[in-house]
Amino acid sequence: MTSARTVSSIIDVKRNYACPPDKSISVRAVILCGCADGISVVENLSLCDDVMSAVDCMRRLGAKIELDGNTAVIHGGKLKKCAKLDCGNSATAARLLIGLLSGMDGQFVIDGDDSLRSRPMARVTLPLEKMGARIVSQNGRLPITLTGGNLRGIDYCLPVSSAQVKSAVLLGGLNADGKTSVTENVKTRDHTENMLIHMGAEVNINGNTVSVYKSGLKAVDITVSGDTSAAAYPICLALAKNKRCVIKNVGINDTRIGYIRLLKDIGANINFINTVGGKEPYSDIQVGESGKLRPFVIDGDTVPRVIDEIPVLCALGCFIDGVSVVSGASELRIKESDRITSTVRALKSLGADIDETHDGIIVRGGKPLAFGNVDAMGDHRIAMSAAVAAAAGSGAYIMGADCVSVSYPTFFEEVTA
Ligand code: S3P
Repeated sequence: MTSARTVSSIIDVKRNYACPPDKSISVRAVILCGCADGISVVENLSLCDDVMSAVDCMRRLGAKIELDGNTAVIHGGKLKKCAKLDCGNSATAARLLIGLLSGMDGQFVIDGDDSLRSRPMARVTLPLEKMGARIVSQNGRLPITLTGGNLRGIDYCLPVSSAQVKSAVLLGGLNADGKTSVTENVKTRDHTENMLIHMGAEVNINGNTVSVYKSGLKAVDITVSGDTSAAAYPICLALAKNKRCVIKNVGINDTRIGYIRLLKDIGANINFINTVGGKEPYSDIQVGESGKLRPFVIDGDTVPRVIDEIPVLCALGCFIDGVSVVSGASELRIKESDRITSTVRALKSLGADIDETHDGIIVRGGKPLAFGNVDAMGDHRIAMSAAVAAAAGSGAYIMGADCVSVSYPTFFEEVTA
């Protein structure tokens, strides 16, 4: 990505923000409806790059997907027995597809862009091989060739809490003999299990253990809620500038709102209004003037609940007097970039007093930021977090800014224009 954007500090916080459709739910809807029996209609589908990668993969596997704006009509069913798939930048698509295809008769090649090729896949291939999948990888990385079929269920304890790994094993379990169970230390986002239940799969949830039995999926209608993680950018911008705003139709699934709990704990005035209930509830999020916030501590069990929002929380930390600390977050090093290093570098480029530790970040906030050049390092969440710091601080020139299209294509128009 070679694009650049200048972000000005003389923008106003808007009264209302629209929230883009959720990327995690959209990827799951495309993959699961693509293999379900019949025609599914998905409304408010995200059109971000990661979701388009999932659409491309499912089309290559034989699903017919018609897109009309944010509505997708997905003709699912029996998939091809042989396909070469490019997941682009999407680890969610790659890991879920590895899980799903492990259970299907056939031979598949799964690949991605350079960033995705550098990310660990052994965390999903190991349990799937235990279930009987035959997988050849490049030292635990993409591209991988897998021969699926004849899986048997396992009882798997996740070494690191991860929704992608949990989902991959569960999708393998859809076509495995017997029961497949996954247990995690901290309950991560549960969109896969919610969607599987909605689509008629036999799923049991007992605390942090999810079990699935061999099941076919039926076509369904899905309306995707607003992306909880994307809402963090206008929320943190408003808090850094001590302004009020409302973000409309944001998903408030309990497993996604860890960062909102944390923000309330440090003094943010945030309320959910106009809530619509259900398995994937959503609300308008109202941010009131909050005054001075207290510094935050993120460690241990909090990390998996706020993993995608840590860069923007650190951006906000630059505006909070005192020392905010993130630790126990080495998972950040294997995201779209090494997000410990890239967050620190981006915010240091803007004059922040911030340092990395082996597994976290220390922000000494409440000091003025300066205009600076920021390298987004090809990572959408770094570009957006830097833009928030710049808009609340003294502006920035963000290089490689177009990577926001991975999750939030309209970010700059919506949040920093
Ligand atoms: C995701 C799970 C998380 C998250 C990622 C999306 C998902 O990754 O960081 O952005 O859609 O399941 P991990 O499962 O690696 O923690």
